[in-house]
Amino acid sequence: MKVLVTGGAGFIGSHVNKLLLEQGHSVTVIDDLSKGHKEYIDPKIKFHQVSLEDQEQLENILPGHDAVIHMASFIEVGESVKKPVEFAQNNIIGTVKLLEAIRIADVKKIIFSSSACVYGLPKKLPITEDDPLGEQENPYGITKISMEQFCKLYHNLFEFDVAILRYFNPYGPGELHQPETHAIPNFVKSILSKKPIPLFWKGEQIRDFIYIDDLAQAHVLALTLSGLHILNVGTQTGVKVIDVVKKIFQIIGYEVPIEDKGERKGDVPALVASSEKIQKVLGWNAKVDLDEGLKRTIDFFKSQ
Ligand SMILES: NC(=O)c1ccc[n+]([C@@H]2O[C@H](COP(=O)([O-])OP(=O)(O)OC[C@H]3O[C@@H](n4cnc5c(N)ncnc54)[C@H](O)[C@@H]3O)[C@@H](O)[C@H]2O)c1
Repeated sequence: MKVLVTGGAGFIGSHVNKLLLEQGHSVTVIDDLSKGHKEYIDPKIKFHQVSLEDQEQLENILPGHDAVIHMASFIEVGESVKKPVEFAQNNIIGTVKLLEAIRIADVKKIIFSSSACVYGLPKKLPITEDDPLGEQENPYGITKISMEQFCKLYHNLFEFDVAILRYFNPYGPGELHQPETHAIPNFVKSILSKKPIPLFWKGEQIRDFIYIDDLAQAHVLALTLSGLHILNVGTQTGVKVIDVVKKIFQIIGYEVPIEDKGERKGDVPALVASSEKIQKVLGWNAKVDLDEGLKRTIDFFKSQ
């Protein structure tokens, strides 16, 4: 297929591009490089440094593509509290402009990067896709819900094929966000540089960590879907954050002190995906377990 990836110079997009190329798809990336890395773009990819908000350019680039994988977004939760207008403009308006360009270019298939944050404080575990959307504690979460709703609307109004993928906690090589707020890359970098690890809630929060190659695979499989699908992408295994720290200590072979940062407002105690639906709809299963995924991630950061 001819696939256009928005945000393809970012962490997750770069892995999705790689897998698409390996499986014989042709890949176009649009990314404004506001956060992305130009060096992540393989020479086989047709790259356009374009913002989602430049609808006219999108309308020129899109014709002839079979599907869009929409990953471009501002993602940093803390930044979204300080810059709600920029987040709403970039994520929500950017998505509406993209959807309009897709409609005009008659592409009509979109796979959208959403997040487990849309569930807010879950009422039960594991979380299933028909669980209600939850109260949000920051503008980022509201932009994700709103982007999801617009994608669904374009399915209802214009018969777009829409797959909404709700990621749990992605991690893996190549995660170089600025600023980095995600646990695993920060833990690994602290330990490798022999600095204390700042830890909230004494690391008692439970998360469902999904290795980047497994996450990428879900996108490629979702290209085959028609109609509207909402799918969790997680492993259905909850792990305490403190246990992740201990595993990293074990793999690296030494420990550093833990800096107790107390409690942090807005953190949910536990997030674990039900992966029953994605297994049924896509035949998808997570293949890389946490020990192996952490080893690969540590090797990446050692090489930096
Ligand atoms: N990383 C995670 O833990 C996580 C979890 C859940 C959901 N997601 C979602 O996955 C997607 C990808 O996340 P990531 O970790 O790869 O982030 P990232 O910041 O590494 O990549 C996002 C890319 O989008 C680009 N971008 C942002 N706004 C743009 C715009 N207006 N026009 C064109 N390009 C633009 C950035 O330059 C960047 O390259 C995002 O939609 C994010 O919300 C990520």
